[in-house]
Amino acid sequence: MPPVPAEAPESAAGSPTTPEGRRYWDPSVYEIELDRFFYRNWLCVGREEQLSKPGDFRTRAVGREQILLVRDTDGTLRGFYNLCRHRGSRVVVPAEGTGARSFICPYHAWSYGLDGRLLGAPHMDGQPGFERSESGLHPIRVATWGGFVWANLEPAGKSLPGALGPFFARFDRLPLADLRLGGRREYEVEANWKILVENFSECYHCAPVHPALNRLTPYLSGANDARFLGPSGPGPFAGGYMEFAGDFESMTRTGYTRRPRIPGTTAEDHRRVYYYVVFPNLFFSLHPDYLMVHRCWPTSPTHSRIENEFYFPPAAMADPAFDPDDAIDLWDEINRQDWEVCALAQQGMRSRAWSGGRYSDKEPLVRDFDAFVARELARPDPPSGSGEP
Ligand code: FES
Ligand SMILES: [Fe+2]
Repeated sequence: MPPVPAEAPESAAGSPTTPEGRRYWDPSVYEIELDRFFYRNWLCVGREEQLSKPGDFRTRAVGREQILLVRDTDGTLRGFYNLCRHRGSRVVVPAEGTGARSFICPYHAWSYGLDGRLLGAPHMDGQPGFERSESGLHPIRVATWGGFVWANLEPAGKSLPGALGPFFARFDRLPLADLRLGGRREYEVEANWKILVENFSECYHCAPVHPALNRLTPYLSGANDARFLGPSGPGPFAGGYMEFAGDFESMTRTGYTRRPRIPGTTAEDHRRVYYYVVFPNLFFSLHPDYLMVHRCWPTSPTHSRIENEFYFPPAAMADPAFDPDDAIDLWDEINRQDWEVCALAQQGMRSRAWSGGRYSDKEPLVRDFDAFVARELARPDPPSGSGEP
């Protein structure tokens, strides 16, 4: 795919200044963003391998909501609000587990099947307005692609392929579903989620902030080939690739790797690291020998939790000498460098002197993202069920 021009068409470029500070700390903006972006879009919430057997389950927070993912006895992957239909307690308390045959609410012991149906509700038969068949866990939509589990709290709207098919088409040539989790880090960051997306969307900061990254993939290498507000119209993902300097082979401490490459990758892929933001909160980074994702979860207007996971080909992990730390440690260093500057930028958003800044010509995706967010926030409230944006 040819690189697109660095500059967006003027009509799509949005404001010449970066967003006003309040967008990064105002609780009312935060609530709208949760509702518009996190409760109405497909979100990458985990890996299929984490829910491989009937009875496997996981809970996870999405904004103020908590969702329950479970593999049903017939093998179907299901999702529910983790919300008891009696008086609203969380039904499942552990973050994960295996071998579940039903879920029993810890408050008054209503019980639910793995398919969400209400099985037992003591002293409820005959109560006015109570229908057992209508009192199951509220379902949410779940789907899979590339070995990832995706969930959407919006009951209707686009299917997962309908929403993200153009992104998936870029990588359907690779057996990403076969990759396995080889390492994971979590971080709490003192920054609004959008500051983290913006940071991931440019490498203007890479020379001063990430000397180790810049040594392997110089910040001016590569190109953007997908834009939120590109010439082909708005899309829910943006990014491109960077190229290795010299004969470097991967993002590792040394720049080299003995691990096998991901099957199906080409000679061109072996010279690149692909970086995409999948709106709203997935950072997808394909390296020659591993796939890395960051999931960026807003936990307050000014704080985020980052899950950073690394997936490798099974053949690499079967090697007794398999050691992912050369990649994970490098990214841990890069991550911490990012979180530090993101927290510093977050602090500036509260300054009474801050009135927005100017984008460099190395930040077209940041400008796109900011314009995309501003456009969505300015829209009239979309009706629930529309699946917007
Ligand atoms: S709140 Fe769950 S049984 Fe009462
Ligand atoms: Fe960075």
